[in-house]
Amino acid sequence: MSITDKIILGDKIILGIESSCDETAAALVRADRTICAHQIASSAEIHASYGGVVPEIAARQHLDIIDRVIKHSFDEAGLTPNDIDGVAATGGPGLIGGVLVGTMTAKAIAHTMDVPFFAVNHLEGHALTARLTDGLRFPFLLLLVSGGHTQLLSVYGAGQYKRLGTTMDDAAGEAFDKGAAVLGLGYPGGPAIQAAAEAGQSRAIALPRPRKGAEDCHFSFSGLKTALAQKWQKTEDKSASARADFAASLQSAIADCLIDRTARAMELFADETGQRQLVIAGGVAANVEIGSRLRALASDLSFTLTIPPAALCTDNAAMVAWVGHEYLAQGKSDSLDFAPRPRWPLDSAAPPPPGRGVRS
Ligand code: KG4
Ligand code: ZN
Repeated sequence: MSITDKIILGDKIILGIESSCDETAAALVRADRTICAHQIASSAEIHASYGGVVPEIAARQHLDIIDRVIKHSFDEAGLTPNDIDGVAATGGPGLIGGVLVGTMTAKAIAHTMDVPFFAVNHLEGHALTARLTDGLRFPFLLLLVSGGHTQLLSVYGAGQYKRLGTTMDDAAGEAFDKGAAVLGLGYPGGPAIQAAAEAGQSRAIALPRPRKGAEDCHFSFSGLKTALAQKWQKTEDKSASARADFAASLQSAIADCLIDRTARAMELFADETGQRQLVIAGGVAANVEIGSRLRALASDLSFTLTIPPAALCTDNAAMVAWVGHEYLAQGKSDSLDFAPRPRWPLDSAAPPPPGRGVRS
């Protein structure tokens, strides 16, 4: 695979829009990597009582507030729509109602202002965030860990990905979310498990480490959730300290699996490219234990490690605007008849992992 690496500099400004899940976000990002505005409105509180994101409610929320979120971003930056050189919106994968709201809005602005429109793969937003925050050069190995995805990818350039591993069932974020639901810790589960785990013992409850030591780089988390649920059901002690032990044990098991699979991918990546750069992206990268364990792993294997700041690891529009810059620099943009893609793998040539059908 060829490696395209261009340092993007200049004063072009792209408006980014993110609406693929429960965050309605807008950002204005300059080609020299300055984030001029960064606005996020979340409907997570509304979904909390349902134990997860309700797509129809999320779509209505996006529709209600997207104009205001965009206006606030122009106000924050002291800019007007006349100042932008392009509009980028998440075009998938994600909840289709929200993606429709974001792309329709972006297309209308791009058409009115007569600037290019970019339909951004949400996963590529996460994948290239380290280019925005740290100016990282290609190629690098990416561990993408979010609520919907757990993947290991070799990143050679914008649009150039080789998937080394993916999950055969649940994503790591889902394992946190489902684990938190089992323990009655609320939604979203990642931050709740992390907070509860602080008071717990990580070795208190014996949980499995699915796929640890496997030759390939694929993950599996659903057995972990089942084991947790069965043990929690059986235990009579439902005190706060028991809950903390369960939370700490779950967090530690998820971290072990991520470390083991990532270590395998690091070997393969270094063999193939001769490079040693690791990037972690997605909401789960905000987890403190996982971050520090990955830091130790990177140092053991002589890799550099880049973890973007938490606010840019979770869903945001700056990462979407940045992907727009990557494509603008290549002279590429999308047509206004782009159709949102609920499934959109970064490496469309990757075969499905053993035991699972095709998914993004
Ligand atoms: O990337 P993201 O904001 O949304 C997408 O899924 O695209 O990731 C959300 C996921 C949720 O599953 C949430 O529980 C998890 O990231 N998460 C965390 C933490 N903060 C968010 N998981 C573990 N520890 C955290 N501190
Ligand atoms: Zn995401």
